[in-house]
Amino acid sequence: MSQHVREILRLPLRPDFLRNSMSEVYTADDLISGGKVFADLNPPARLGVFGDPVAHSKSPVFHNAALRAAGIDMGYVRIHVPVEKAQAAFHALPKAGFLGANVTIPHKAAALAAVDEADDYARRSGSVNTVVVHGDRLLGFNTDGPGLVRAIREEFGVDLHDLRVVLLGAGGGAGRAIAVQCAMESCERLVLVNRTLEKAQALTAELASAFRTDHLVGPVDRIQAIPFDEPALRLQLAHADLVINATSVGMRRTDPPLIPSALITPNLMVYDTVYASGKSRLLEDAAGAGARCANGLGMLLHQGALSFEIWFNRTAPLETMRQALASLP
Ligand code: ATR
Repeated sequence: MSQHVREILRLPLRPDFLRNSMSEVYTADDLISGGKVFADLNPPARLGVFGDPVAHSKSPVFHNAALRAAGIDMGYVRIHVPVEKAQAAFHALPKAGFLGANVTIPHKAAALAAVDEADDYARRSGSVNTVVVHGDRLLGFNTDGPGLVRAIREEFGVDLHDLRVVLLGAGGGAGRAIAVQCAMESCERLVLVNRTLEKAQALTAELASAFRTDHLVGPVDRIQAIPFDEPALRLQLAHADLVINATSVGMRRTDPPLIPSALITPNLMVYDTVYASGKSRLLEDAAGAGARCANGLGMLLHQGALSFEIWFNRTAPLETMRQALASLP
């Protein structure tokens, strides 16, 4: 039977196939109806990622590798959850015997609404990417920001706290989560760039209190909002260390440049949260300019490792997870 037919019928697959498969997708109804299909797998699936779309998610590959390496007899699956079924799917997790779930686009805000309790960072960023089932209750965490901090340290050997950051796309969910993390780290300086300037201005006002302490940046505001405007970008990038792309621009090879390549100088570090195969336009331009650059795979890896640590209260097998991620096309 072809993989395609299996997907349509959603037959449980042999565990070795499940572990290797990049396209096996279960549905919200599989959870809402009690989760028998997950219990019948070998090993039983007790973790998963909710998303729409979700077939592209790399999370099962490195989480299943981590579970095997840690000797934990359970599997991690993709679950396609349409917006209208999100709340029911979250609330079905305890009865379906799940330990928790990861959450991706577009459900991170819905996950915050679904959980009974959330940690400070999840509440402030308005999004949850890690759900823990605790008896009948759901607890929410967000490991995206802490995952970014670890990725920046690993890729560039520096701490976010010490950097002057220019954040592209501060108006979206990912941008907000990163801006809140920068505020919690009290990074040296934060420039919020957004096409719709009002959104960046509102976020600047909300985060301003975190940037009132003394840092040696001279007579400039430590947090500022600007539009995608060449002169404004030129000025800010001349006084920046790290540029982060939190927009989805660059996912497609045909996307236009997010910022003019001439503005990228060799002293900059450029981090693109996009992790589509190959280099995004922004990273190509950054590499061409001699700047240090990295894509979002590190953030993906570290947010996953942090989720594992939350679920199991033990260190994640990071190198196993990294290798599993690297083995993907
Ligand atoms: P979300 O993350 O909440 O789903 P989104 O609509 O995907 O939001 O947008 C994410 C971010 O990418 C936003 O900051 C958005 O800018 P606006 O707030 O002005 O909409 C930004 N964005 C999307 N497309 C863009 C483009 N072509 N150029 C610049 N910024 C863009």
